[in-house]
Amino acid sequence: MKRIFLTLLTIVATGIASTIDATPVEIEMRGDRPGAAIAPTMYGLFFEDINFAADGGLYGEMVKNRSFEFHPDRFAGWNVAGNVEIMDDGPFDRNPHYVRLTDPGHHEKRSCVANEGYFGMAFTAGEDYRLSVWARSADGKGRISVRLTDPASSTETQVLAETTIDVDSPEWKKYTATLSPSSSTTDGELRIFLKSASAVDLEHISLFPAATYKGRENGMRRDIAQALEDLHPGVFRFPGGCIVEGADAESRYQWKNTVGPVENRPLNENRWQSTFAHRFYPDYFQSLGLGFYEYFQLCEDLGAEPLPVLNVGMICQFQNRLENQIPVDSLDRFITDAIDLVEFANGDTTTTWGRLRAEMGHPAPFNLKYLAVGNEQWGPEYVERLEPFVKALRAACPDIEIIGSSGPGSEGDKFDYLWPEMRRLKVDLVDEHFYRPEQWFLSQGNRYDNYDRKGPKVFAGEYACHGRGKKYNHFNAALMEAAFMTGLERNADIVRMATYAPLLAHVDGWQWRPDLIWFDNSRVAPSASYYVQQLYAANKGSRVIPLTAADRPLAGNEGQNGLFASAVIDDTAGCYIIKIANTASTPAEIDIALRLPRKRSAGPEAEVITLTADDPEADNTLDNPTRVVPVASVLALSAADRLTDTVPASAFRLYRIPLTDK
Ligand code: AHR
Repeated sequence: MKRIFLTLLTIVATGIASTIDATPVEIEMRGDRPGAAIAPTMYGLFFEDINFAADGGLYGEMVKNRSFEFHPDRFAGWNVAGNVEIMDDGPFDRNPHYVRLTDPGHHEKRSCVANEGYFGMAFTAGEDYRLSVWARSADGKGRISVRLTDPASSTETQVLAETTIDVDSPEWKKYTATLSPSSSTTDGELRIFLKSASAVDLEHISLFPAATYKGRENGMRRDIAQALEDLHPGVFRFPGGCIVEGADAESRYQWKNTVGPVENRPLNENRWQSTFAHRFYPDYFQSLGLGFYEYFQLCEDLGAEPLPVLNVGMICQFQNRLENQIPVDSLDRFITDAIDLVEFANGDTTTTWGRLRAEMGHPAPFNLKYLAVGNEQWGPEYVERLEPFVKALRAACPDIEIIGSSGPGSEGDKFDYLWPEMRRLKVDLVDEHFYRPEQWFLSQGNRYDNYDRKGPKVFAGEYACHGRGKKYNHFNAALMEAAFMTGLERNADIVRMATYAPLLAHVDGWQWRPDLIWFDNSRVAPSASYYVQQLYAANKGSRVIPLTAADRPLAGNEGQNGLFASAVIDDTAGCYIIKIANTASTPAEIDIALRLPRKRSAGPEAEVITLTADDPEADNTLDNPTRVVPVASVLALSAADRLTDTVPASAFRLYRIPLTDK
């Protein structure tokens, strides 16, 4: 991503002669009147294990069903040959299944387990892969051969790398090996053959690229994590989404199951397995290898504030009747889980959960500041459950900011009911969700202008433009998001966080679209929306600067020619940053009076970054990942305190105007 960003085409466009015969829109920027501070958390990420975002995606594990716990088919993801049995008295009580390979007893008949990975396994020649397996052999004379293979290979051998492991103990032991494939494939397999007359038991068979993000052992896929880092996230919300609620009480997300040794984290059904019959993935489970410790660690690595979302005692309200919900008088365990989570993140190492964090490798606190209670809940049934959480959390963890829900919609009965209730409960932020069409985004440029400034702040926790009924990514949807986000920025005194959703999608395993980043097993394609998010986050600045046309904010209102705009000052970099989305199908001439503070001068040039496309339906794909990318240029100011320009039709453009002291 960095590469794409750094190699942006640089055009010197000094003094572009406009051919547009139109009166420029007169804009005034009050550079001398900086307003509200912009929260460092303003632009962030919403992560949910939907679309194979975790297992099969960000989480580096390449083996599907590594512990033989998928059900009903314990062999899901595996092809077996010879004598292979599923056993259920393994060393990890919460994942008791494993396989026993015994000698078929015939010359050249073999016992083997072969894992297909998530939609195949991608191996790159020259890269190392770390295998680990728990094994035992009754007489200590077991032997296995481990191979990375390319089943479709047309060459002499399918074998890309091979090693032999002697299973030398009747006790369960972890064995490791490094394999380096001789050539690359995107459709590889891991195969393990029995090579001894003695039987061998195998459990938790795991394969990671050695080069994970930041080199962490139970780490993340490097290219995907890098794409996240390149978004400069200020906050990272996890682990969902509806996955927090579960499709039923069984499958709800329980953070305590996700910490401690990975081998003993119990498998959980992924609630997106069968949510959509037209996108059915019966073998979609959560290994929880990417658990709460790893999420906190990732936040630290990304430089983002962690924002966990916890179950409020409610399972998915779309799928469950009220009587299926956890009774209000049975919430103690859920509330304890919330308080214990704060201890896990922040407690000193003498506390129960702080000690576990230290044992897992992080004695220092993770500095958790925010906790969302309930995902996309609604109704009095939510409020009566949230209330005891708020009371208990305020008493036990007074420094934690609590986030409540405003329901699944951007407005309407549920929304109108919940906002006053959130005010009454005095939550710190309210999470709003909106997956809406273009027209909605165009009409909501001033959504937050009149919000009550005294109540809770806003967390725009899930949003995306679902364009023209076509639920896929395209540039025009990204442009609508860019336009709408000027309103977030102008209202940074009340909007403290905003996270596009969903974040990640495997091209072979998605349930929901559009998504911010698409990937397969070896490639990543950031969408046009990705670049909008990146441009905002990399240019968020420190304080809002008033920007108006005819004394009104530019929010696409009548007479403003479909222009949306906002401005900030970046006190550290020493520059003003103006963002303009031209949603009209004609170019717009603009003339901005900068109104500088007396002791400062600007320019003489502005850096300009433009995101546009030759076709509103264009987007990036894995085969053409750079069709829609930001393009950099330079523009000379028309006077010491004036910027005039022609903003192309259907384009998002950003100006960075350097400031110097006189
Ligand atoms: O982002 C996809 C889903 O949309 C989330 O899981 C849920 O919170 C919302 O309904």
